[in-house]
Amino acid sequence: MERRQLVAKAALAAAGLAIAALPSIASAQGETVKVGLIFSMTGPFAATGKQLEAGVRLYMAQHGDTVSGKKIQLIVRDDASAPDQAKRIAQELVVNDKVQVLGGFTLTPLALAVAPVATQSKTPSVVMVAATSSVIDASPYFIRSSFTLPQVTIGVAEWAPKNGIKRVVTLVSDYGPGLDAEAAFKDRFQLNGGKISDSIRVPMRNPDFAPFLQRVRDDKPDAVFVFLPAGVGTQFMKQFAERGLDKAGIKLIATGDVTEDDILNEMGEVAVGVVTSHHYSASHPSPANQKFVEAFRQANGGKRPNYMAVAAYDGMRIIYNALQTTKGQTGEPLLAAMKGQTFESPRGPVLINAQTRDIVQDVYIRRVERRNNELFNMEFETLKSVKDPARPR
Ligand code: PHB
Repeated sequence: MERRQLVAKAALAAAGLAIAALPSIASAQGETVKVGLIFSMTGPFAATGKQLEAGVRLYMAQHGDTVSGKKIQLIVRDDASAPDQAKRIAQELVVNDKVQVLGGFTLTPLALAVAPVATQSKTPSVVMVAATSSVIDASPYFIRSSFTLPQVTIGVAEWAPKNGIKRVVTLVSDYGPGLDAEAAFKDRFQLNGGKISDSIRVPMRNPDFAPFLQRVRDDKPDAVFVFLPAGVGTQFMKQFAERGLDKAGIKLIATGDVTEDDILNEMGEVAVGVVTSHHYSASHPSPANQKFVEAFRQANGGKRPNYMAVAAYDGMRIIYNALQTTKGQTGEPLLAAMKGQTFESPRGPVLINAQTRDIVQDVYIRRVERRNNELFNMEFETLKSVKDPARPR
């Protein structure tokens, strides 16, 4: 019997409790590592939740469900993208299910709601989406496997003025990541001689873009720079074409959230030529990515992975790698082993910066092109090893 169990046995005996309770403690904490994942599986961000879950499950299908002799037990819960539910679920996962790792968090407000639970319970937690720069500071137990908006915005903000785009209207979703994207774009674009003629913020949930697009049309800038969270790109593109912005010669530039891979084909001709910067494209030409895309398609009825699936796949990898290093120990040693990891992701080489707990990765400038009758974000320029520029440390 391990020393820990002997101590527990002695404590139970001293407290006059049944020693029969011991085996369940041993099996709960001995052979299993429970990973509680909170995704938005219903509601407007359900497609993101599905990509995340598929990414996690693909990693496990390829690498088995046992690491360092510990069985990995997943508990997946739906927060319906409501922060109060995300918080309640996190508490239940920690208190009732006794998970040793948390992960997921489909939107910034959901990650912020979970942060105090992660901190109080000292539970290492992998942020697989929430991309507002400051999210990582909400809990010292957070590690991020996704990206930050400033990190992926500066690429297109540098590309635009070098390519004839001098006057821009920004249009962003009115919450954390949108405000980060707006600020990062403005800073970098103006630094390079560009002029911002208007800054528009649209509601985060169920936005009707028509009046905002009319405002852009009346302004007649060279381009509109857009950030919207995954899931609304198709609706935006439709209204962009309906309002005739493309015909009026107003270019669309964006972060890759707008042209995400899984719904890009639904957007149609209006998307062709759109330039974005982002950290992942399903057409990234590395052998690692080709294998990943093929395996994802096979496991998910031909569907393409997007950047959410990749962050979840890598998030699971970070947990597995850390458990290997700690030989199955959880808690503080696991958190320490999550920091500083480097590996080749389907997106390219990545590092989890040990100081910031944030991801450092290549960012690509891409253009939507038609290949074999499908639309892809074709990468044509690479910014190497980009860290979150909003928080240089
Ligand atoms: C976020 O809420 O932080 C978020 C969600 C979806 C994205 C990007 C950021 O595509």
